[in-house]
Order: sequence, then C-alpha cells, then structure tokens
Amino acid sequence: MVQLSLPQKSKVVTGKTWNKPASKAGWKEFRIYRWNPEDGQNPRIDTYWVERKTCGPMVLDAIIKIKNEIDPTLTFRRSCREGICGSCSMNIDGKNTLACLKAIDDVKGAVKIYPLPHMQVVKDLVPDMKHFYAQLQSIEPWLKTTSPTPPKEWRQSREDREKLDGLYECILCACCSTSCPSYWWNQDRYLGPAALLQAQRWVIDSRDEATGERLDNLEDPFRIYRCHTILNCTKTCPKGLNPAKAIAELKKKMVERRV
Ligand code: SF4
Ligand code: SF4
Ligand code: FES
Repeated sequence: MVQLSLPQKSKVVTGKTWNKPASKAGWKEFRIYRWNPEDGQNPRIDTYWVERKTCGPMVLDAIIKIKNEIDPTLTFRRSCREGICGSCSMNIDGKNTLACLKAIDDVKGAVKIYPLPHMQVVKDLVPDMKHFYAQLQSIEPWLKTTSPTPPKEWRQSREDREKLDGLYECILCACCSTSCPSYWWNQDRYLGPAALLQAQRWVIDSRDEATGERLDNLEDPFRIYRCHTILNCTKTCPKGLNPAKAIAELKKKMVERRV
C-alpha cells in the first residue's frame, strides 16, 4: 500500500490552553487553528475559554473578545459583523459559514474553528483570496453594453429586475467554493460556484449586451463543467443562495444556444 506522509511542519499539533476556568459552568470552550508563517512552527490548535454572560451571542463576538482580552496575536478578518461584507468566513463546527451569523449556542461542546478549507493560509484564520478574486475578475462582473449610454440610467422592467433575486445578494464570502470538492481538486482551472453564480448574475441581466461573449468565455472542459452537482455549495451558503442552480442554468443556456 502507498504510504503518504504530510510535508514537514504541516501536521497540526495541540497548542496552548490559555485561560481554563476553575469551573466550566457558564463558560464556552473555543479550539482555534493557529499558524504563523514567521515562527517556523507547525500549525496548532489553541484552546480559549469565554464566559458566556460577558460575551455577545455570535462566534465573531467570542473571537473578538479573545483577541481583545486574552490573545492579541489571534488573526482573522471581519468588518461589518452583520453578514454583509463576507470577510469573516471560516470553518466553524465543520461547516463553512460567517462567524458573525453563527450563534455560539448552536454549537454543542467546544467550538472548533479553522480557516476556509483548501486555501493557502496567510496567518491563523486568514486565507489567501488572491486566486478567488482573480477568478471573479475573469468573468468580468460588470455591465457590458454596445448601445449608446442612455442620458440617465439603464432601465429595467420590474420583471427583469426580479430575475436577479437569489443572485445579487451574493457577498463573495467564498464559503461555497471552498466547500466544493471539484474546486478543491481543480481550483487552478475550475471557476467554482461563487464566480459561476456571478457569471449567471450578468448573463441573466436584461441590460447586459455581452451574453454570447460571456458564454464563450465559459466554453471549456474545466471552467464550468467540473461542477458535478454535488450541492455542497448550496448546502453551506450562509446567505441561503443556490449556486448549484445558477450553474445548472448557465449550463442549460450553453446547450440551448447550440441547438
Ligand atoms: S453564493 Fe453564498 S457562499 Fe457563495 S460566495 Fe456568495 S454568499 Fe458566499
Ligand atoms: S454543485 Fe457544483 S459547484 Fe456546487 S459543490 Fe457541487 S460540484 Fe461544487
Ligand atoms: S463581519 Fe461582515 S460578514 Fe461577518
């Protein structure tokens, strides 16, 4: 049998327990992935304890409290703290989600927190999003027109505007793409559900005049067709969107224009 071993310094080890209380009553345990590229050490899981009555209800509240009061070196992204900016995406209790929308009380036992899976880690809970954003840029997520620009605005009927519902709400948190097995194995060539949902958002926009060009850009064995309808993306989206459906609709359009 083939024996596989992890590269040196990549094995996750048990880290430090910071502030274990004398009694666990009223306290919640957090086990958090830590990795600092500058110290040459293995990644580790550090354990922190947060007193529930002195902390807000969400996992992000607890992480901020840990950083402010226990360990200022803990590194993570966050901004809006209300599910709008998409920056606090991470893997909590085994599922990709937004720390600001995940209630602490929804997790039984210790809250286990890791960065988004299958991404390069910059530090601790911060993944490198460069490639993800380059993929988004490749689908040209802006209005493309050839008609003369109207004096006031590009008008759209109410019905056409409603076709964007379920697409425009995407906050580009990357929870879906990083939960997709096809994206894990082929993210160099497969665009992943987040970028493809955005592609559908522009293909379906009645004001956009580059539909053919957009679909041409997806005609490739990998860019869209690596989606095998596994549906992890839809299951994990913290905004309740359905990237798998958007991808299926794009595929349908690509077939329809050939017949
Ligand atoms: S579809 Fe959902 S999970 Fe994917 S990037 Fe958009 S908001 Fe995040
Ligand atoms: S439906 Fe497609 S994009 Fe979504 S998880 Fe499955 S393979 Fe990935
Ligand atoms: S902090 Fe903005 S989505 Fe969580």
